[in-house]
Amino acid sequence: MNIRFRAPCAFLAATCAALLLAACGDGREAAGDAAASAPAADAPATVDPARTPGEVNLYTTREPGLIQPLLDAFTASSGIKVNTVLLKDGLLERLGAEGERSTADVLMVVDTGNMLDLVEAGHTQPLQSAVLEAAIPAHLRGADGQWFAMSLRDRVLYAHKDLDLDSFHYEDLSDPEWKGRVCIRSGQHPYNTSLFAAMIAHHGAEATEQWLRGVKANLARKAAGGDRDVARDILAGICDIGIANAYYVGRMKNAEPGSEQHQWGEAIKVIRPTFDVDGGGTHVNISGAALARHAPNRGNAIALMEYLVSDEAQSLYARANYEYPVKAGVELDPVVASFGELVVDPLPLTEVVANRRQASALVDKVGFDN
Ligand SMILES: [Fe+2]
Repeated sequence: MNIRFRAPCAFLAATCAALLLAACGDGREAAGDAAASAPAADAPATVDPARTPGEVNLYTTREPGLIQPLLDAFTASSGIKVNTVLLKDGLLERLGAEGERSTADVLMVVDTGNMLDLVEAGHTQPLQSAVLEAAIPAHLRGADGQWFAMSLRDRVLYAHKDLDLDSFHYEDLSDPEWKGRVCIRSGQHPYNTSLFAAMIAHHGAEATEQWLRGVKANLARKAAGGDRDVARDILAGICDIGIANAYYVGRMKNAEPGSEQHQWGEAIKVIRPTFDVDGGGTHVNISGAALARHAPNRGNAIALMEYLVSDEAQSLYARANYEYPVKAGVELDPVVASFGELVVDPLPLTEVVANRRQASALVDKVGFDN
């Protein structure tokens, strides 16, 4: 039933935000939690300053420079103004403190774990949207519509550009062939615990522990620094391969020629590893969005979320951030396109997140960062 309401709402959003609010505002067709925050029928009519026709309130941890072009394009196409509340840290605490009075409509964060923390704390509400469901594969969103991936952050192999290597399994990282040749950041960084959690989901904790010991034995240096340092250290001859996120390569290779970053980027090539299992693909993390639990501008919030999976927005993501579009068939940045097709590992991300605490414990157990 929700889908019947949603589709016309999204269509109207482009031309008549006020009408959209009247039609879909915070109507009782919303499942579950939304109804709990709706005023009682006999409550006195008050003006709610948070509910502003033609506006939407976005709470995000994302760098403003990265998402502003998307938000500007949304405003240009819909007429809906986006009020951005940037929270580098403390989004959960802020939402907790605001409670029912929160003016947040849309929540946007990086990392599946952060997304699920918001869901588990009750700061989101379920959303059924035919537009979002058509654009986003099922394993990259919450089964109940509590969250949606908007872009993908694939965790890839950086390899010395002259290395004779064109495919790789994550499992190969523990192969003695790579002894003293691997660079990687701290095993406790969320980018790595997420990868190790996926390894647990595929092979179990015991096999993952053995694998981690093997990777640790292959390290060329302490597991530390950032993802770009893998490229830096390959250029410096410290290591030959390493694991890092693909979007940094977009940033490095597109940096000003002659700059340090550009030199690091030019020293490496990218190989998208896959898990060595039937149908295994490349590990991804996400940037994601959710409808806030008490969203005062519900219709506009849905319009923004649906806009973010339009071809236009997905292509802006792909070009501005070098992240991978969640929607198929969107034109890529040329550097990202040069890495070839991304075959996303089919494990549901919720399953990966469920193993993260165990992954973190294994990192400590094998002394990965020591
Ligand atoms: Fe990053």
